[in-house]
This record gives sequence, structure tokens and C-alpha cells, in this order.
Amino acid sequence: MSDDTTRAPGETPPGPDGLPLVGNQLAYVRDPYDFMTRTAREYGDIAHWEDPGGPVYQLNHPEYIERVLVQNNQNYVKGEQFQRTLGPVTGNGILNSEGEVWRRNRHRIQPAFHPDRIRNYAEMMTDETEALLGDWADGETRPVHEDMMSVTLRIVARALFGVDIDEHVDTIGSALEEFMVATESLSNVVLPPGVPTPSRRRIRRARERLDRVVTEMIAKRREDPGEDDVISMLLSATGDDGTAMSDDQIRDEVTTLLLAGHETTALSLTLTMYALSQHPEVERQLVAELDSVLDGRTPTMADLSELTYTERVVKESMRLYPPVPGIVREPVKPDVIGGYEIPTGATVRMHQWVVHRDPRWYDDPLAFDPDRWTDGFEESLPKLAYFPFAAGPRRCIGDRFALLEARLLLATVYQRYHLELVPGTDLDLMATVTARPKHEIPMTVHRREATDQ
Ligand code: HEM
Repeated sequence: MSDDTTRAPGETPPGPDGLPLVGNQLAYVRDPYDFMTRTAREYGDIAHWEDPGGPVYQLNHPEYIERVLVQNNQNYVKGEQFQRTLGPVTGNGILNSEGEVWRRNRHRIQPAFHPDRIRNYAEMMTDETEALLGDWADGETRPVHEDMMSVTLRIVARALFGVDIDEHVDTIGSALEEFMVATESLSNVVLPPGVPTPSRRRIRRARERLDRVVTEMIAKRREDPGEDDVISMLLSATGDDGTAMSDDQIRDEVTTLLLAGHETTALSLTLTMYALSQHPEVERQLVAELDSVLDGRTPTMADLSELTYTERVVKESMRLYPPVPGIVREPVKPDVIGGYEIPTGATVRMHQWVVHRDPRWYDDPLAFDPDRWTDGFEESLPKLAYFPFAAGPRRCIGDRFALLEARLLLATVYQRYHLELVPGTDLDLMATVTARPKHEIPMTVHRREATDQ
């Protein structure tokens, strides 16, 4: 980390120059992973550049990131860039909201993620996975990312809202696809929010389709309230003054949980499956653990403490391929980081992708090596050198849910199948809000014989 001695007033950290008018936006949009990694490696722990939207500061040291997300978190909001990208999709749900609205609604939703509640979701998670595997035929080629998206969507809808959404999986999936493709569009980044670009029109139409599905889910729950599903909880919640939540706010919270709660976990699974297909020795070790612990049984909550290698595989995959590759914040008052003043309204970027691949914290950082997560390794890292779920008060609300789901799904799938990547498939990732593959990841699924097991 650069030393924190005070800099001259107005001095900015080093960084890429960029082009007139568009700054570094073109370079970023063309290859975000390359741009953010090069910036970190060339300019150090804090880099700066000017973009049309204002100054940008990229933080590449865990201590600087900890300051923004944890120690001085009250001085930061998600900011204009975040709202511009996700506002049209998730509205004012807890991913986007700030201040009192955020605090109240996070508090209302939190009980659904209590460890005791999450424990109860385990059996449903493996049931849904087995239902998916029931559609797989030995030797067939499957669109693995699509499969993971649909199973994680079913799981989050059943767990949090107590509904089966079979008939809506396609509508939700295609709306999400529209959102993600549109957020990558250069015109959306460069043109002011009011300009009706074709991709903004597509986002609006996708949002309308999604709203219809979510409104229908809410209406069903209003007619037939459940005991502890999130929609019923929100419908019965009242503020200090006794007023109920507005329909629009409930819809935004439900949409947020549906989207944030399935695509990230689906990505962690798809990217783990990709990594395993490239590392047969890791897959062998994983399968050996599954065979010895489970002996052919479907995994349960009680097995997880023994599935230590499975857990390391998931951890390592989220290190090398963090499903959320970077996050942004904006200071509401000037802050000082690394001796430099960060002005109000600047965009502060922190990239899991960059920090998780920093050779200062990880030996041979590009290797997929679950064995690096020996007991004590995580504790030996600087606190924010591993932050797939972010940190501080805005840390992911679904982290435990996601880790449970990822381990159970992986165990259930690899116990039964060996997955072989179709030759010639490249892993080409978008870097918008999530690290979503630009193209499907097709894999041929081979049923493991009883004798292999
Ligand atoms: C591997 C899976 C997941 C990853 C990597 C992940 C990652 C993240 C990250 C990095 C954030 C912080 C975003 C920011 O600060 O801008 C976040 C927030 C959030 N996540 Fe997750 N997430 C995952 C799964 C889930 C699940 C399963 C749910 C719900 C069922 C969920 C719901 C949310 C919500 C609602 C927020 C906003 C929390 C707040 O601001 O109070 N996520 N997630």
C-alpha cells in the first residue's frame, strides 16, 4: 500500500489519460477486465482518471476498500452510476435504496435469511436440483448456464415467496437477459439518462413484463397470505406511523430478491463447472469426497460440515471468478484515502476481480487451486482481500443462502454426473453488474456409473 503521508492539495493519484470527451469509457467497455487489471497493476493501490461523468478512483488495496465499505461506510452511497445501471431494473428495492428506507426494509427482510430459516431450505434445494437432473439424459449436451439460471430461480422463488414459478421462468429469464445486455450498451453509459436509446426502450419493456409477473405473485399472496414468506411479511409490515408499505415498494423488493437472488448463484455454479471441466484432478478429488461422505445419498444440511473440499472448490471459484466482479460507491462528503482527497460525487470503484487475483495475497493467482484454502488461510489474508459478497452494512443479505445452495447443488450434480465442456467453447464474460458469460457454456453430461461412484 502506498504510504499515507499527506499529498499536496488537489494532487490526484496516477492513472490512465483516456481520450477527449469519452475519457476511458471506450477502453473500459471494450474489455473491462483487462482495463481494470491493467490500471491496478500499472498505477498501484489507488488510481484516478476523469470520465465525462466526473472523476473516478479505483481502489486496489484491501485496506482502502475496507475504509469505504466498512469503517467509513456512512459517508458513501451507491451513487449515480449504480442507480443509472440498476435503477430501471430493481427500482428502489434494498439493493438500490439508501438511508431510512433501506434500513427499514433490510430489517424487515432480514428474518428470511436467519440461519435457522436457511437451514430449512436445504431439502427443497436438493429436490429442485434432482428435478433438473431428471431432465438430463446421459451423453446429451446441456446449456449449463441456462439450467443453473432456471434451477436457482425456482429455488429463490420457493424459498422466499413460497411460490412455484414454473410458468414464469422464461419471462423472468428473458427479461434479465435484456437487462444485462442493455447495461453493457455503450450508448447507455455515454448518453444522459433521459435519452431514449433502443436498449433503454428494451429495458422498459422487459421491466413491464417482469412487473406483471411480480404483481401477480403479490396479488396471490394478498388473497392467500402465508405464514412467513417474504411477500406476506412485507404485506403485513407497517411503519412507525402505522402505514403499510406501498405496492410499488413491495414490488421493487420482490423483484430485487428474485434477480439478486438467482443470477449470482447461478453464475457461481456455472463458473465452478467451467473451472472443474478444466481441472480434472480437482473434479476427481471432489467426487472422491462426495463418494466417501455421501455414499450415493442425496446431500443434506448435516453433511455439509464434512464436505470440506466441496466448500473449498466453491470458495476458490468465487475467488477466481467472482460473480459480482466489481462494485461502486460515491462519497457524500470528501474523504481521504491513501493521502489523496476523494471529492464528493466521485465514482469509487472496487473490483473483486482485481483484488482476488493480486499476487500479493494469492500465490500463483491465476491457478484454480482449492487447496490454497487450508484452515487458517482466510484468516491470514488482509480483511478485504476476499470479498465476493462485499462487506459492511451493505454486505449481501443472501450470502449464507448462496453458499448453502452452491455447495448442495454442486454436490448433487457431481455425485451423479461428469460434465465435459464442448470443445472450442470460450469463457467470455460480460462485466456489467455480474460476470455473466456472453455465450452459453455447453457441456456434455455423462452419467457416472455405479461402479465409478
Ligand atoms: C454467489 C452468490 C452471490 C453473490 C456473489 C452476491 C454478491 C453480492 C454483492 C457483492 C452485493 C453488494 C453489492 C453492492 O454493494 O453494490 C450483494 C448485495 C445483495 N445481494 Fe447478493 N450475492 C449472491 C447471492 C445472493 C442471494 C442468494 C440473494 C437473495 C436471495 C442476494 C441478495 C442480495 C441483496 C438483496 C443485496 C443488497 C443488500 C443491501 O444493500 O442491503 N444475493 N450481493
